[in-house]
Amino acid sequence: MKPKLLVARPIFQSVIESLSKKFEVTSNQADTPWTPEAWQQAIAHHDAALTTGSDPINANVLGAQPRLKIAANMAVGFNNFDVPAMTAVGVTATNTPDVLTETTADFGFALIMATARRMAESEHYLRAGHWKQWRYDMFAGAEVHGSTLGILGMGRIGQAIARRGALGFGMKVIYHNRSKLDATTEAECKASYVDKETLLKTSDHLVLVLPYSAASHHAIGASEIAQMKPTATLVNIARGGIVDDAALAVALKNKQIAAAGLDVFEGEPSVHPDLLKVSNVVLTPHIASSTVKTRLAMAQLAADNIASFFSNGKALTPLNQMAVK
Ligand code: GLV
Repeated sequence: MKPKLLVARPIFQSVIESLSKKFEVTSNQADTPWTPEAWQQAIAHHDAALTTGSDPINANVLGAQPRLKIAANMAVGFNNFDVPAMTAVGVTATNTPDVLTETTADFGFALIMATARRMAESEHYLRAGHWKQWRYDMFAGAEVHGSTLGILGMGRIGQAIARRGALGFGMKVIYHNRSKLDATTEAECKASYVDKETLLKTSDHLVLVLPYSAASHHAIGASEIAQMKPTATLVNIARGGIVDDAALAVALKNKQIAAAGLDVFEGEPSVHPDLLKVSNVVLTPHIASSTVKTRLAMAQLAADNIASFFSNGKALTPLNQMAVK
């Protein structure tokens, strides 16, 4: 009998078809929303789950003796997984590192550009029919080239953004991270380690690329924003909850910093209503890794993790490693 696989949200049909050769697949191509009860029931009846960042796997969902053996997240972030709880009941957890690094870094840079150069704000102005004549100071923004790029969280994506800034835009790159990079990696990224206070005070453009956890909740709140330059921009492509969105909306309204670019939000897909009211913010719906090629690579890696686990007991990119049950 084929193992039963639950695909929680729509993914590429070609990936479903290839999974169907090895698994009895229950897919949610219709994108029917899960109630907590339906989700728990569905997990209870499957051997594997291909999840996205909005599908929780935790002690409550799994129960004490789950049938589930593996949950493969189609995302590099995995704060929807309680990995220790999964390990405790023998469930392998996987994510999709590497395949999205460069694409996500491109988008981080796109948000820096759009935010610093006021692209969304000026486009809205034009579309609304307000553009009547050229003015010397029209939507004058901040320089990107030659400025100081700050990166909070210096994993693979942070490093890819650093390379873009240093090599492509001649930026001075500073970063803060739980641990300092080794000298070779620092030299390759042309990035210097600084403490968080220096990062906040010195960056012209500050990009957040750190994982979400209890420790990083509201890592950027009112007091951190107050330390930033009034001309600075802030970009969040990491996770909602790392920034205190309510505090940021107040700071943007009061022009405590110049602008922000946000791809992720606390409680998304809801967006803090005050962020929708300020013009100096670029808002995108969690699409940093969204190119056709990269999303396909992510879906394929999640599928390959499940296939590899069932064929030889080893997931390709595990967050924990469990014995085959
Ligand atoms: C997207 O947010 C991801 O974690 O892959």
